Amino acid sequence: MSQLKQVLAEKIPTMRSDIKSFVKEHGAKVIGELTIGHAFGGMRGLKAMLCDTSEVPPDKGLIIRGIPIKDLTSKLPEEIFWLLCTGDLPTADQLKDFQDDLRARAKKIPSYVFSVLDAMPADSHPMCMLDTGILALERESQFRKRYSEGMTKDEYWEPTLEDSLNILAWMPEVAAYVYRKAFNKGARIPADPSLDWGGNYANMLGLADPTGEFKNLMRLYLTLHSDHEGGNVSAHTCHCVGSALSDPFYAVSAGLNGLAGPLHGLANQECLAWILETMNKFNGAPTEEQLAKYAQETLDAGKVVPGYGHAVLRITDPRFDAFHAFGAKVCPDDPTYQTVARVYTVVPKVLEQVKKIKDPWPNVDAASGCLLYHFGMKEFSYYTVLFSVSRTMGMCSQLIVSRGWGEAIERPKSMPTSWFKAQAAK
Ligand SMILES: CC(C)(COP(=O)(O)OP(=O)(O)OC[C@H]1O[C@@H](n2cnc3c(N)ncnc32)[C@H](O)[C@@H]1OP(=O)(O)O)[C@@H](O)C(=O)NCCC(=O)NCCS
Repeated sequence: MSQLKQVLAEKIPTMRSDIKSFVKEHGAKVIGELTIGHAFGGMRGLKAMLCDTSEVPPDKGLIIRGIPIKDLTSKLPEEIFWLLCTGDLPTADQLKDFQDDLRARAKKIPSYVFSVLDAMPADSHPMCMLDTGILALERESQFRKRYSEGMTKDEYWEPTLEDSLNILAWMPEVAAYVYRKAFNKGARIPADPSLDWGGNYANMLGLADPTGEFKNLMRLYLTLHSDHEGGNVSAHTCHCVGSALSDPFYAVSAGLNGLAGPLHGLANQECLAWILETMNKFNGAPTEEQLAKYAQETLDAGKVVPGYGHAVLRITDPRFDAFHAFGAKVCPDDPTYQTVARVYTVVPKVLEQVKKIKDPWPNVDAASGCLLYHFGMKEFSYYTVLFSVSRTMGMCSQLIVSRGWGEAIERPKSMPTSWFKAQAAK
């Protein structure tokens, strides 16, 4: 048994009985209010879901199992996944065991997934290719197999872990192949077993990396995007589909489809486009005055300034800070990075003037694109795939924990508009 499974096998029964008795004792306690605004406004802020892997307090940003993300930036993504699943960082021995497990699984990636991708039109969106690849791999699901054989409810988490680890092990190869194929980058680069999960993904993308800093950027990227509590579209979708006991391949693929939306994961490609647009307009890195004026023009045209604002956060996203610091260290003289840094000094002041904008501060997407661009990844439509590889850690860990304590199928009650109007009239 792998060490990760061993740790979970020790923790899950306690978690399950703890939650069961907690709900039994306090299930009827009222903890909040539901307004008509909630029902019509995307349920924003409604505290009605459970997620133990991470939380996002509006004034602090991402906290994974009690540790602020700013204190995790030097950790490998594999350590983050272990932390998400178990609540603790792995020891060196546990980390090695986990990395070896992922490497062994990666070797067994079914080759038909590449044939499926080859059959797709070359101009399919990279997110559609990635989702299709993951969905095609559903054939391998151990959860579906074990369920049809009749496993008990207490065992659900075990094949959920098994499927999740296969998805994690195969994801970088599928995602790297999507890049190579969609952008005519040449033949598939095989996995390098001497590398870690993030380093190997960077290597299989095939970009020149003489300093090794692109690998470091990928490790940081995968760590920073790993999870963002349970209510965001991709996590929530994955959770909802998983709650029907659809296996992790179905659930993760569904979550990724949500990540493909322009208000969620796709926003990261729009941020860099806006930065390059300003550089194009002003023939190089614009001055602060030029940027302030251009931001105002964007708002006046009824458009959003991409990379700024957040549904939950009310501060500069600490993940933005981490990318900003990486850029300052690795490419301080890059004009695109310099523009991003300058936008940060100017744009919040412009957005603060607009009363309806609740958060004028940069989110994670405001800085990541310029770093990818610096290292030669210039295909914007691929950026959400990188996000997806990372967020798979969050989605899978949330599924494992949910199956661990036996979460119920999700089924909120919907009502017609007339019912809400009748409530308002009371
Ligand atoms: C992230 C985002 C979707 C959050 O939306 P939200 O929770 O509705 O945010 P708010 O409550 O602050 O929005 C209130 C209003 O301000 C606007 N607003 C928010 N951020 C804005 C921005 N960066 N530029 C211009 N307008 C913005 C909204 O569009 C909304 O306008 P509306 O009432 O006319 O529809 C929004 O801030 C946005 O579109 N940002 C730019 C895109 C982006 O960076 N997305 C990545 C998210 S990680």
